[in-house]
Amino acid sequence: MYIGIDAGTSGIKLLLLDRDQRVVASRTEKLEAQSPHRGWSEQDPDAWWQALCRILDDLKRERPKELEKLRGLGLSGQQHGAVLLDAANHVLRPCILWNDTRAQAECEIFEARFPASRRVTGNRAAAGFTAPKLLWVRRHEPDIFRQVRKILLPKAWLRFKLCGEMIEDVSDASGTLWLDVEHRNWSPEALAACGLNLDAMPRLVEGSAPTCYLKKSLATRWGMRDTVILAGGAGDNAAAAIGLGAIEDGDSFISLGTSGVIWRTTRDFRPETGSGLHAFCHAVPNRWHQMGVTLSAASSLRWWAEITGMSEAALLDEVPLQISRPARPLFLPYLSGERTPHGDDLIRGSFLGVDRAVKRAEMTQSVLEGVAFSLRDAARGLGIEKGEVSRAMVVGGGSKSPKWVSIIASVTNMALSCLKDGDYGGAFGAARLARMAAGDGEIADICSKPKIAHQYLPNPALRQLYDEKFALYRQSYPLLRKWAE
Ligand code: XUL
Repeated sequence: MYIGIDAGTSGIKLLLLDRDQRVVASRTEKLEAQSPHRGWSEQDPDAWWQALCRILDDLKRERPKELEKLRGLGLSGQQHGAVLLDAANHVLRPCILWNDTRAQAECEIFEARFPASRRVTGNRAAAGFTAPKLLWVRRHEPDIFRQVRKILLPKAWLRFKLCGEMIEDVSDASGTLWLDVEHRNWSPEALAACGLNLDAMPRLVEGSAPTCYLKKSLATRWGMRDTVILAGGAGDNAAAAIGLGAIEDGDSFISLGTSGVIWRTTRDFRPETGSGLHAFCHAVPNRWHQMGVTLSAASSLRWWAEITGMSEAALLDEVPLQISRPARPLFLPYLSGERTPHGDDLIRGSFLGVDRAVKRAEMTQSVLEGVAFSLRDAARGLGIEKGEVSRAMVVGGGSKSPKWVSIIASVTNMALSCLKDGDYGGAFGAARLARMAAGDGEIADICSKPKIAHQYLPNPALRQLYDEKFALYRQSYPLLRKWAE
């Protein structure tokens, strides 16, 4: 048996897998994020720990036999968040999360202090990443900064609670801006730019590597052996990639979750900071990945549902199954800024070209198209317009809508595969990493690819029309930029 835990922003999710990778049990505990000021997003790390303990206490009552057979545990987690610990390993303040935008000014400061930043870290500095957050704390909360002894990402802090050691994996560490991503090691220069040094960093490992054993007291509490090994684990997107078996050069997927991600596995470190792509380490050795992130994907449809007072399903029902032309209105989904390609926390979205005759269904179609355009925009650096990425798997809540996936196929000119029902999130990948760490099989065998339920191909009749609308989408950003100033 293997456990995978995904410490996500909206909840802690746990999957229990048997040796044939079948899901034996699945549990989720919901979490809230706090926003004490506009643009802030924080969580109390203790709430993650309490949620995880509730899940495991329940599982001990309901699945004691399975827990007795547990061999490994893997962690996946929301990336970039900063858990700050003092000399006694106490949490100094709430964790500043990946979607917190307060540290915009600090991005410039960081890059000015560390001019080689983009080359070494493979990423443009963004307020969501960890290093600017620490510069913000240093400037605005100097008393707290002075007490900082260790900085852990969310899942590394949970590991610390589980095994007492401070360890981070290279895929998650890639999102800090303190990692030399090509050499898979901390960069002392990047740390120095924030007034930090290596002492503040946990030990680094590969995601598939064994790290430490579960504490004896916890193994007893949950009826487990005291030889349960914890894997390095991964950032949530890298963990999802492991769950999808996306470990070979060119393997690609789109995740249509709250935010949208387009991912490509690479054999080497391939920074593309000009187009705003991230270049991160993968969760298995000798692999990296590129990733474009659009911040409001499924959350755009959720927002539109709130505005209209409809359910998302009812809105989708109104959109025709066979679309014959793009919607007249153009939707730009910059509801909370945009990561790739613009790296712009202040930009905001818009509907353009709305007239009196427009119906709700056409507005909904324009929302689906707007998210598709934002994915195409995020994926330009991957060479999708030159056909360098021509197929991808699609996962996440939005992938359940055939209408939405076919729009994305036509807008991006990619063949998109939806998967047979299953759990393809970070927790599944984390359980696979647990199995690797326990030494129960080869990475390539464990990372089998999921079964395809349906493939959506671009509609040739729509493609040119969408190309024209996408050109308008691109031209609208500079106009909206003026609003943000
Ligand atoms: C990745 C990113 C998000 C978070 C949220 O760069 O910001 O996917 O990891 O879970």
